[in-house]
Amino acid sequence: MKGLILSGGTGTRLRPITFTSAKQLVPVANKPILFYAIETVRAAGITEIGIIVGETKDEVKQAVGDGSRFGVAITYIEQEAPLGLAHAVKIAEPFIQDDTFVMFLGDNLIKDGICGLVDEFKQEKPNCQILLAHVPNPQAFGVAELEDGRIKSLVEKPKEPRSNLALVGVYMFDKNVFEAVNAIKPSRRGELEITDAIQYLVDAGYDVQPHVIEGWWKDTGKLEDMLEANRIMLENIETRIEGTVDKSSVVYGKVIVEAGAKIHGSVVRGPAIIGKSSKILHSYIGPFTSVHDNVTIRSSEVEHSIILAECVIENIGSRIEDSLLGRNVRVHRSEQRPRAYRLMVGDNSDVEVL
Ligand code: TTP
Repeated sequence: MKGLILSGGTGTRLRPITFTSAKQLVPVANKPILFYAIETVRAAGITEIGIIVGETKDEVKQAVGDGSRFGVAITYIEQEAPLGLAHAVKIAEPFIQDDTFVMFLGDNLIKDGICGLVDEFKQEKPNCQILLAHVPNPQAFGVAELEDGRIKSLVEKPKEPRSNLALVGVYMFDKNVFEAVNAIKPSRRGELEITDAIQYLVDAGYDVQPHVIEGWWKDTGKLEDMLEANRIMLENIETRIEGTVDKSSVVYGKVIVEAGAKIHGSVVRGPAIIGKSSKILHSYIGPFTSVHDNVTIRSSEVEHSIILAECVIENIGSRIEDSLLGRNVRVHRSEQRPRAYRLMVGDNSDVEVL
């Protein structure tokens, strides 16, 4: 069995971060989301993995490499444009060949992994198996209707959902899916939809089975989802202090302080992670905060946020919360007159002030 992880796409919902960077590489608890996907597929015993890459291919290749450090072999598959999830399957045929495979969306996190799904697929050998979860707002998802334990229909974002079972971004297929992705036509938004491909399989009489999960999962396409994913992953960390914490600082709860990091005159309340060579000086870092490498936070308070590498936050009078700062961002107080907000922010940024 092979793995197919999707790491192309445009990531419009996470702009401006995705103007300069792949959304799958945004770190959650200081680890790129894509790495969790690779580890999840690996944990299910799959070591031959194809990664679909788009515009951000160079950055993804640089971060993941040949996969050896994850104990897998990676093949990169270039998609000329984000033409849909079923299009990604279509171009992966030369890599998959006659094998069965699991397809995993590279911006999805499944806390309890996919071993159960993969084992069930191996035992029962359906043609396709899709991961489903009960959600309170099925209108926002692809929704499955079941009949006698089989999938009857799939509808993308239905106005009147027939169930509360949403498609989670993990699918298992055998080679018959290639017949489906070659037969379907692009949808109104111009994409080859995976829901249409699966509906094709159902209509053609193939065995399409559901697998419902109860654990936490997230499609991290938006800021709130990234912050939630960060929260869930930080809850799982174990305290590890490799950097230095001076006597005037207090670190409590589950906290990771990476090598070379310095905590001076500060309070860090976990769960939180402070990346390599970062400096926390006369500051407060509150729960659910991930500070990446080489960040300086001075005389400021940050909580429930993701701060990417090389950022500088200095002398901010109010607490920074619920925020995602891209790489190398500087947020600081100025004594300059006249007193004014002076901003240089990219397209699609969002700045909330007191
Ligand atoms: P989406 O989140 O549905 O799409 P997107 O990345 O374009 O994001 P947005 O809606 O904010 O513009 O994609 C799910 C995953 O699949 C994500 O990891 C990107 C990937 N993907 C591809 O690799 N190729 C594609 O053609 C599409 C549509 C998505």
